[in-house]
Amino acid sequence: GLSAAGVTSPLDLVDARPASPPRSGSGFPAGFVWGTATSSYQVEGAVNEDGRGASIWDKFVRIPGKIEDGTNGDRANEHYHRYKEDIALIKALGCKAYRFSVAWPRLFPDGDGKPNPKGLDFYNRLIDELLKNGIEPWLTLYHWDLPQSLQDRFGGWRSTETCKIFGDYAAYVAEHLTDRVKNVFTLNESGRFVYFGYGIGIDAPGETLPQAEVNQIRHNSALAHGLAVQAVRAHGRRGTRVGPAENIDACAPAIDTPENVRAAEIALREMNAGYLNVIMTGRYTDAFLKFAGPNAPKYTDAELKIISSPVDFLGLNIYAPQNYVVASDQGAGFMPLPIPKSFPHMNSDWLRVGPETLYWVPKLAAKIWKTDAIYISENGASGDDVVTPDGKIYDTDRIMYLRNYLAQLQRATAEGVPVRGYFLWSLMDNFEWVYGLNKRFGLYHVNFDTQVRTPKLSASFYRNVIAKNAAGA
Ligand code: NOJ
Repeated sequence: GLSAAGVTSPLDLVDARPASPPRSGSGFPAGFVWGTATSSYQVEGAVNEDGRGASIWDKFVRIPGKIEDGTNGDRANEHYHRYKEDIALIKALGCKAYRFSVAWPRLFPDGDGKPNPKGLDFYNRLIDELLKNGIEPWLTLYHWDLPQSLQDRFGGWRSTETCKIFGDYAAYVAEHLTDRVKNVFTLNESGRFVYFGYGIGIDAPGETLPQAEVNQIRHNSALAHGLAVQAVRAHGRRGTRVGPAENIDACAPAIDTPENVRAAEIALREMNAGYLNVIMTGRYTDAFLKFAGPNAPKYTDAELKIISSPVDFLGLNIYAPQNYVVASDQGAGFMPLPIPKSFPHMNSDWLRVGPETLYWVPKLAAKIWKTDAIYISENGASGDDVVTPDGKIYDTDRIMYLRNYLAQLQRATAEGVPVRGYFLWSLMDNFEWVYGLNKRFGLYHVNFDTQVRTPKLSASFYRNVIAKNAAGA
């Protein structure tokens, strides 16, 4: 039923009981962190309230033709005002963790200078409400809403000035919030916002710069990550953990033979040489520099040291296989295969259904970068959700996607791959960037006119997974 606030009661989850004990061998390790994820611009709305400054997305969404359905994040999910109801939705799933991002322009309307106390107040309220409900806040420092002022004054991420200011902002967040927030992600998907924002102009700020500059901006994003790691160490409470949340270019062997697995390992390192490999090892690979040639970024040894500041965990956003590879005696030793047009995908072409990426990518990443803590900082799927006349959403396609990916993730943990947690994207349908409100990733359906949230069947599925701590629910 609908509550007074117009929100469907979380108790309306369809048959949310764990039906039976976990099937043998399907369990995740004890203490595995189950969460969901969102980001500030995608859910908060309230873009002109309480002194928030403009971000590059506020400006970008107003350029005609940029957003597929002509919508924007002005209202989005009105989460800024409805956060308590949304936290009740997280709780109803049984999640003990929630990944959200702080809107930099809420805290510093101009990016730097005088902080806006009302911005901080919101995150204090949010964090306190989460903790009150037994949910651990996992905070992302940057999920693409760069203060417009930094774009105007310095060209945004084109300048290392922005990196330094980001470090100051990270220090401020660490100082004020790590008394309660124990885990911090630095930059979300630098690969995406650099290339799409500055290379092909599809995301904010919508620039199309030459490759040499794009590579330099990519380097700057790594530098910003390193400066944030150092800021959290210097200004956070002792024991605060920090790491990236990167859309790793997901490589998997086309066929499971030792040669192809080795090739996939090389591919994973080389395809991610511009960010993950350099932040984890402190150097650009020879193949990367050779390939970049005259377009290679300019950098100093001191920068490489900052960039590779030790992290506590590796956050990986994994949705779809990017490259199936086989061994090759050409080049670096691997060959990425073309993806056939008929490869199954969800309702976006890029969202190919390749569950085994949740097995191979963490497994190979742990080996290459010798990390003992990996978190899947995002995984999930959009679908053509239909609301039935009696208000139900039977998203069996999303469940199919999740069931298969989680089975592969479980397979990795059973082999001892150090995956410690999983954040499902997303808690609820939200503003999907250039796709606008068209692509729904939520466990909860959102009616953007009425702001009513309704649990989809996948919410029951996920709740069952969490209750059993097992795949195959
Ligand atoms: C990655 C991004 O971090 C998130 O903002 C986006 O909504 C999801 N993927 C789905 O595309």
